Amino acid sequence: STLGASAAERGGRYFGAAIAAGRLGDSTYVNILNREFNQITAENEMKWDATEPQRGNFTYTNANRIVNHATAQGMKIRGHALLWHSQMPGWAQSLSGSDLRNAMINHVTQVATNYRGKIHSWDVVNEAFADGGSGGRRDSILQRTGNDWIEAAFRAARNADPGAKLCYNDYNTDGINAKSTGIYNMVRDFKSRGVPIDCVGFQSHLGTSVSSDYQANLQRFADLGVDVQITELDVAQGSNQANVYATVTRACLNVARCTGITVWGIRDSDSWRTGENPLLFDSSGNKKAAYTSVLNALNGG
Ligand code: G3I
Repeated sequence: STLGASAAERGGRYFGAAIAAGRLGDSTYVNILNREFNQITAENEMKWDATEPQRGNFTYTNANRIVNHATAQGMKIRGHALLWHSQMPGWAQSLSGSDLRNAMINHVTQVATNYRGKIHSWDVVNEAFADGGSGGRRDSILQRTGNDWIEAAFRAARNADPGAKLCYNDYNTDGINAKSTGIYNMVRDFKSRGVPIDCVGFQSHLGTSVSSDYQANLQRFADLGVDVQITELDVAQGSNQANVYATVTRACLNVARCTGITVWGIRDSDSWRTGENPLLFDSSGNKKAAYTSVLNALNGG
């Protein structure tokens, strides 16, 4: 009857949405959130610029509005994101070398400790791989502190909150390609060396089609011994939108270790993809064909 309830009936999966603290006073928005979803991700409020705007000065006011809402509603919380080259605070952007390394590890430790016990899964590192055919890391000031920055971040997060699942999250990984293979090789390496990693998020900001090896890609990661999730799903509008949503939903259901799906907003008017109408509810909060298609897929259709 709802996305969250139907997902829960499929092996205890969740169906979630990205939430903006500033919209929690909008009753249409909150009614849909509470009715349909059993997991939330903060769209911006847990990012580095939001949680540590000045060095060593941590602010959780907006993040806590989302955490408190989710906790009161019994929703799982995905923490997003401890480290990302984008949306870094200005003070951190001006650092480099060991000073930046120390600041980023401190950030991971402080935020994960603050939310210890409340976060189901953390995106520890977001979008660290390059687009295109290299399969390598994205150049960034974080990467320039040394290639081991990702594993250092995962180890710090594990120490700070041993109960949270620790995930790597990225986009343009929605099939078997050079970028997803680069990440696959990193996860395989981490598993072989005992670096703590539990899950990989596939953002899935999709156009009018989805790669035919989408499910096979999820499965190859699952076969490494990590859970996988669809973390930021949205799909370009057009005649194929409902089909793409259903294909992605079925792919997750067909992979035993695909534990949940998150859409990146509730109504089309809430989306970062302005004018693209990529979500499951229209701007008035009505269910779209894509909604019905996802619900049918969750119910085995
Ligand atoms: O909060 C300020 C506000 O004070 C100011 O008046 C306003 C003026 O532009 O900007 C507001 O900040 C904006 C913020 O969203 C909150 O609305 C930023 O400019 C804007 O850049 C930011 O965009 C977010 C984007 O990440 C930043 O890169 C989107 O909402 C958010 O949906 C998007 O999410 C990312 C994921 O974190 C990672 N994967 C890709 C995904 C889509 O880009």
